[in-house]
Amino acid sequence: MGQLEYKPNVRTCAINLNHWYVVARTTEVRDQPVNVTLWHNDIVLYRDSQGKINALEDRCPHRQVKLSAGKVVNNAIECAYHGWQFNGEGNCSFVPYLAEKQKLPNCNIKSYPVQELDGFIWLFPGDGDSEAVTPMGLPEWEHLNYIGSVATIDCPGHYSYLIENLMDMHHGHLHDNYQAWACATLKEIETTDSRVDVLYDAQSYYRIDKIWSISQLFFPSLRRLHPEPLRVSYVYPHWASSLGQDFKIYCLFCPVNETTTKAYLIHFTSLESFWRLHKLPVPFRRFVKNSLFNAAKGLLEGLIRQDVEMIIQEQQAFNTNPLQRNFELNRAIAKVQQLIINQFSQQINQ
Ligand code: FES
Ligand SMILES: [Fe+2]
Repeated sequence: MGQLEYKPNVRTCAINLNHWYVVARTTEVRDQPVNVTLWHNDIVLYRDSQGKINALEDRCPHRQVKLSAGKVVNNAIECAYHGWQFNGEGNCSFVPYLAEKQKLPNCNIKSYPVQELDGFIWLFPGDGDSEAVTPMGLPEWEHLNYIGSVATIDCPGHYSYLIENLMDMHHGHLHDNYQAWACATLKEIETTDSRVDVLYDAQSYYRIDKIWSISQLFFPSLRRLHPEPLRVSYVYPHWASSLGQDFKIYCLFCPVNETTTKAYLIHFTSLESFWRLHKLPVPFRRFVKNSLFNAAKGLLEGLIRQDVEMIIQEQQAFNTNPLQRNFELNRAIAKVQQLIINQFSQQINQ
């Protein structure tokens, strides 16, 4: 008799922990410890005296209180309760009332591979080889020809709902009043064992070819619909997209648990077509980039509000009746669900 195969439900499917996830913006962790949760893992992030970021299990092994309630002392984090200290490797490095000849307790906590890259803190929660996997990164983050905006998504829903929302560009319908894109038609789908790439023909309202065209972000009357390719990619576990040459958007995922997902949406407006701008001195170009930072934040937050409202309803409907079947016309969604399940299964077999 063949073995019964366990097929996870995509709406409750766990994540493949052996990837780099984004847990915070670099600016969110300063001199105080910060608690984050990544797929049920309670984690404390702190900077040591050199500014290096560390990530430990957020649990003092003495009495199981949260280390994030403590403070940073040199290169260690000090528990608020009795003052025990733990270094970046998660080893107990100091106990203030250790008696003479008494040894430090052998009570290590888990430390996670963590790195700062392109404005975000990337963390590898799995037990696999973190060096064998490359974090996706944001090539435009430091690039002087791209203006960035960042918004946070706090979504009370499973991460599958969020990635399906981002991969199904037919939902432009929901955002009509924000004029983000229009008339998406699915053209091509390509898949590998770690990504799904989908190409749509679409229309964009914006054309960023003159310096004043940035003002289209603020004044709808200046926008004109024109055809542009719209590419969206599930680069497990994150999302990348481009609309023509002018816009790139990323979504960096931090799934919290089966019904909560945190993510960051990052929008870049390209200044590539202003060749004159590239000849200007670097400090001036940096000034332009910095001054326009977050120009599209309001737009992003508006889109997120509309998307999250839909996802909340999807999650509630699933909670009420998990067996209710969806009717799906977009072929990309089946590929996305398959990737979620394959990645999860891959981890189990690793
Ligand atoms: S509970 Fe942390 S030092 Fe006692
Ligand atoms: Fe959306």
